[in-house]
Amino acid sequence: MPLSFTASRPATPPAGVVVVALPERTRRTRSGLEPLDRALGGALDRALRSRRFRGEKGTTHWITAPAGRRLEAVLLVGLGDRVDDDARWLEAGAGAARALDAARVRTASWWIDVPGDVDASEVTRRAARVTRGVAGALYRFGVRRRAHPAPALRRVTFATAHVAALRPVLRRAAVVREAVDTVRELVNLPGNHLRPSDLAARVRAMARTAGVRVRVLGPRQVRNEKLGALAAVGAGSDDGPRLIELRANVGAGPRVGLVGKGVTFDTGGISLKSWEKMDEMKGDMAGAAVVAAATCAAARLELPVEIVAVIPAVENMPDGAAYRPGDIVTTFTGETIEVLSTDAEGRLILADAIAWLRERHRPQVVVDVATLTGAVMVALGTRIAGVMGNTPEQTRRLIEAAGRAAEPAWELPLDETFREAVRGRHADLRNYAGRYGSASLAAALLAHFAGETPWVHVDIAGAFWNDGSGAPWHPRGATGYGVDLILEYLEAVGRDR
Ligand code: BES
Ligand code: MN
Ligand code: ZN
Repeated sequence: MPLSFTASRPATPPAGVVVVALPERTRRTRSGLEPLDRALGGALDRALRSRRFRGEKGTTHWITAPAGRRLEAVLLVGLGDRVDDDARWLEAGAGAARALDAARVRTASWWIDVPGDVDASEVTRRAARVTRGVAGALYRFGVRRRAHPAPALRRVTFATAHVAALRPVLRRAAVVREAVDTVRELVNLPGNHLRPSDLAARVRAMARTAGVRVRVLGPRQVRNEKLGALAAVGAGSDDGPRLIELRANVGAGPRVGLVGKGVTFDTGGISLKSWEKMDEMKGDMAGAAVVAAATCAAARLELPVEIVAVIPAVENMPDGAAYRPGDIVTTFTGETIEVLSTDAEGRLILADAIAWLRERHRPQVVVDVATLTGAVMVALGTRIAGVMGNTPEQTRRLIEAAGRAAEPAWELPLDETFREAVRGRHADLRNYAGRYGSASLAAALLAHFAGETPWVHVDIAGAFWNDGSGAPWHPRGATGYGVDLILEYLEAVGRDR
């Protein structure tokens, strides 16, 4: 049933359905395409010369083989003007997958070594991108439909001279792919199917199969442990707040703390949101999903870092018991926050989670992932995450990891003025300090609770969801953005400890 990717040397003569990604202005000669052209009776050469296929990015072109050959057809995929760009290979993977799916192809072989002489590292990089692009294009959230036609594609075999180098990369990619699809599934699940107790149950199940330790504090424990901000945000829901804790790779290396925003539905609370696009707020637990899935993947991959992940899970609802504007809540540290908007709930629950993580687990660094502010979307659009932190080295490390993962991230400012702005008038702090610089103001509140611990904040409010303006290799709805980024980051921490 699941899609798999394997590697083997190219068949001679070529057989079945073969995919080749080519840049613009490809000449057949000297490009390694000769065996294919021969098997096609020269039709590849003609397609390139006649400009029926120009190699423009995102384009595909089928060439059917003459009858009686082992080769059935060749699918050409355009890379545009460059082959060295990760995004192009992601897009090529997605484009090819859509064309293969439309033709109901079950297995295909992808000639990943052409054009030219490519070394093992280039081939493995390309192939890893292709697998993610293919999986993104074929992902379907169809669980709750009576009929959801499954994609026909079962297996893609990379035809390459670098089989040995590619195999471990494909194994890692399979773990990442599964984690990304898990995030998509959780994020796409509507609020009535995924409430805080459901999120806790799913994370627990996920952790068990990955051999990750898990512990869940229920609503009463949340109150007893004085996680007052978390308790307040969760007060309006009849499915009370949870604090989910995961521990992976204990003793394996430096201890990294991860925190993920787990608002299973954000109505805004008493500061109610308007109805437009409120449905997207079913994905306000994307940070939690990323952190949980990445932690389980890191355990599977046995990364040399210890991970403690903390997920505050709540449903932000208006209700007779709900917290209200003007309320003063006492956080885990004993410091108070004045609630000016119940819709700025993310920073409240994250404040408690970060404080808890520091006090109970003493991590060397903390990374939080959260769909925190609409402002990050205003600033950076729907594909790029906003990054802020309290130590340049860790911020840089995270942004570099984002680059390797082809999940774009950009630093936003977090200076003294933002930190001063979140000081409270009637309490130590306040959760709202004006409309301008909202992404930085939210981060400034978190920075207060991160204190002296090196900390990086990733605001994925734009990148977690594809409304149609997202990357072509992402499905509509949940993108799964952040999993690969966090894994790349963890690997970097493990590498230069
Ligand atoms: N979950 C939202 C942020 C969000 C908006 C995520 C759109 C994804 C897409 C968050 O809880 C929120 O409501 N933020 C407010 C904060 C404001 C009241 C200070 C916002 O950004 O408008
Ligand atoms: Mn909100
Ligand atoms: Zn929210």
